[in-house]
Amino acid sequence: MLIALAAAALAMPAQAQSPADDAAAMHAKVDGLIARMTLEEKIGQLEVLGDDYGKLDDLARAGKLSATNGVLNDRDVAKYTRHLQDMAMQSRLKIPLLFEGDVAHGYYTIMPVPLAMAATWDTALTTQVHRQAALEATASGVSWTFSPMLDIARDPRWGRIVEGAGEDPYLGAAMAIAQMKGFQGDDLSRPDTMMATAKHFAGYGAAQAGRDYNSADIPPRQFRDIYLPPFKAVADAGIGAVMAAFTAIDGVPATASRKLLTGTLRDDWHWPGLLVSDYDAIPELVTHGVAATPADAAAMALHAGIEMDLHSGIYLEQLPALVRSGAVPMAEIDAAVRHVLEAKWKLGLFADPYRYGDEAKEHDPALRAQSRAVARRAATESMVLLRNQGVLPLRKAGRIAVIGPMATATRDLEGQMPAAGDPARVVTMLAGVREAVAGKAQVSYAKGVDVTGDDVSGIADAVSAAKASDVAILVLGESVGMIGEGNSRAAIDLPGQQLALAKAVVATGTPVVAVIVSGRPLALPWLADHAQGLVYAWLGGDEAGHALGDLLFGDADFSGHLPVTMARALGQVPLSYDHLPTGRPGDQHSIYTSRYVDLPNTPLYPFGYGLSYTSFRYGEPRLDSATLGPGGTLHVTTRVTNTGTRAGAAVVQLYVHDEVASVSPPVRQLKGFERIALQPGESRDVGFTLTPADLAFTRRDMSWGTEPGRYTLYVGGDSTATRSAAFTLSPARR
Ligand code: BGC
Repeated sequence: MLIALAAAALAMPAQAQSPADDAAAMHAKVDGLIARMTLEEKIGQLEVLGDDYGKLDDLARAGKLSATNGVLNDRDVAKYTRHLQDMAMQSRLKIPLLFEGDVAHGYYTIMPVPLAMAATWDTALTTQVHRQAALEATASGVSWTFSPMLDIARDPRWGRIVEGAGEDPYLGAAMAIAQMKGFQGDDLSRPDTMMATAKHFAGYGAAQAGRDYNSADIPPRQFRDIYLPPFKAVADAGIGAVMAAFTAIDGVPATASRKLLTGTLRDDWHWPGLLVSDYDAIPELVTHGVAATPADAAAMALHAGIEMDLHSGIYLEQLPALVRSGAVPMAEIDAAVRHVLEAKWKLGLFADPYRYGDEAKEHDPALRAQSRAVARRAATESMVLLRNQGVLPLRKAGRIAVIGPMATATRDLEGQMPAAGDPARVVTMLAGVREAVAGKAQVSYAKGVDVTGDDVSGIADAVSAAKASDVAILVLGESVGMIGEGNSRAAIDLPGQQLALAKAVVATGTPVVAVIVSGRPLALPWLADHAQGLVYAWLGGDEAGHALGDLLFGDADFSGHLPVTMARALGQVPLSYDHLPTGRPGDQHSIYTSRYVDLPNTPLYPFGYGLSYTSFRYGEPRLDSATLGPGGTLHVTTRVTNTGTRAGAAVVQLYVHDEVASVSPPVRQLKGFERIALQPGESRDVGFTLTPADLAFTRRDMSWGTEPGRYTLYVGGDSTATRSAAFTLSPARR
């Protein structure tokens, strides 16, 4: 019987045309391979290694390499991936390699960072951004990305807040799906789609005190209601891979948590994809203090559900002896190998190991031009106008002073993970302004101060430039080494002497537009009060400068809205719009309420906030029924009118508040949004549909579901929206 099965598997035809759909053929192929693999070959499939581990050629030929994450190290990537695949084809079983790159926001063409993309509230554009990235990356042979990062983050100290979609689970889930679709399309086996990875599972964004890799303490209800939804959304939508988080929650590192990795992902969610560790996270179980030896760590991670080790080589080194001694059952190895091989099948690699990688396309100018156009639109939609005292849009005339250290930044605008990007391709903010007004206005530049440090000797020149100009554009912010992985900050204000520069320039009396280049929401109370204009430009990628030029001079309109609450000061952190009411809601003027004596509770700018050159009126929400019944729907409609004189895009937001529940309900929660473009004077009805499932949460007894009762909903342009209506959710059927 066994022999007959194995023979049948060996006789399997090559992978069919539409492999993702052909589950029976996939299982037969994978079973057949597993039946033939030696223990070493199996364990070789469980490693993602870089070229710092050993000679990848030799490992690939020996069948000890399954995937490499080293593809972006300054090489001719398509040639390199093809060469390594050649090596794998010389191995006994010819199992193709996966080529991984951290394609987080663009590959050759660098797009705005994910937090900036979340500020667009434009899911279609977000998909397009990652679609371009996939087109470029797959042309280089890269078939797998460790992206999107789905960590909800509410602490701007944490440098990796830049990699996610901000503080909200609803927006986070919408952006998660949008990103996944861009990478994976609807057929993973196409040569121009790639496997995406939801990371970091889970709770990494809650690292205590905003310090990267720090432990997190997340109460189980918050964990499910706030941190898990983006992951659940992509697990249901078919994401190919998940990466476990570095963090320990309540003392248990995610990498060692069978409850989380196998319990939640496999048993509860029935997710069939590939689970990979984070970089060296398995040996770090020893440092965490939950494993005594590397062997313990390897056994513990595999048992928890980690199928591939990233970078450390610990599976290759430890698992063979553990299996031989009986400490690790072969069944666990086989289960892990199965998921790896299935991922390779779904990517179409058994049909054609050279499916990805196309040198002509890799250097195709038409593809690059297309990507740049998308990058420009993305950067334009992502920038958020926070304040405008009538100064913007600027006139393309007279004298303009561009001031500040970030005006000429290139590498900083690419973010920490620029894949195959090149700072030389970044359009600086200064260049963008110059180009926008070429031949019409005179532009001067003064740096003023560095991003960090105490040197103020350049401020005098900056002041002279401002005095000699009709307007000053102050470009301030943070450099790349202050944002991203490992780059937590203990302060969230402008570093160095940049505020001193701003104060000196504002004191000249020349109108000032401050433009902030940063990957985290900084606390900018002084600028919010004193600059005539304030723009949050994030890290906008290759086309940031063009986008800024288009926006400042009115060739495009601002339409970005904050995906995070912007604090007045670090002391308010963590701060999110969906906080609980407390028994004594804050009143700054009343003692014994939940307040600060020295600062209002309110943020500097609320979640969802963003101005435009036009204005919008939101009509009272109209409901098609006062009651939402079990299995029913509730339609909410609001009439949105462009009341200004320019065309613009509104981000219409729907928030819901549960009046009474078994656990204290958040003051409001985002439950819908839509971006719409309106001509001056134009009105449009925007509709949302709510079902009972949209109102489900983790109840007092920890079950997931709804509770009947009264709800208020709000519609408007940010999380302080006041147009409201009420409805009742009727009891669920028994
Ligand atoms: C990060 C991951 C990343 C990996 C590989 C790790 O340190 O946490 O997000 O994908 O490195 O670059």
